[in-house]
Amino acid sequence: MERHKSLISLSSEHHHGLVTAQKLKYGYKPSSSTDTEMTVDDKKEMLLKFSDEYIHKHFRLEEEILVPYLPDNEIIKRMLDEHVKMYELLYVIEVSDPDEALLNQYGEKLEAHIRFEERELFPLVEKSLTEEQLNEIEQKLKGENK
Ligand SMILES: [Fe+2]
Ligand SMILES: [Fe+2]
Repeated sequence: MERHKSLISLSSEHHHGLVTAQKLKYGYKPSSSTDTEMTVDDKKEMLLKFSDEYIHKHFRLEEEILVPYLPDNEIIKRMLDEHVKMYELLYVIEVSDPDEALLNQYGEKLEAHIRFEERELFPLVEKSLTEEQLNEIEQKLKGENK
């Protein structure tokens, strides 16, 4: 489905997120042409880097910029709840010596969260907001991405 232009920057980060989730689950080294298996340490390092570069800011933008425009409904509650659970799991991964299963679990959660947002949250944004509100969101996101 065609995304409204206001949501394209978030959607393209979702694409990066899905690639990261695949690597956490299946373990191929980033940008490797030879499909070298990633070790648990490689996965942890990749995830923490991705989180510093994208996840924290992405969650914050969804929470601070999208949420104020939306009704307080089940979709929003689920989004916020999943953000909290992923923050918690990421923290555990950061401070511990995570095993394969824990990293896989994060990959599963990340992928499910992104698919939920693309299938339910973003369509809700597109259908319940006016063009003017969507443009406002676009400007706010642009201001944050400067
Ligand atoms: Fe999210
Ligand atoms: Fe998202």
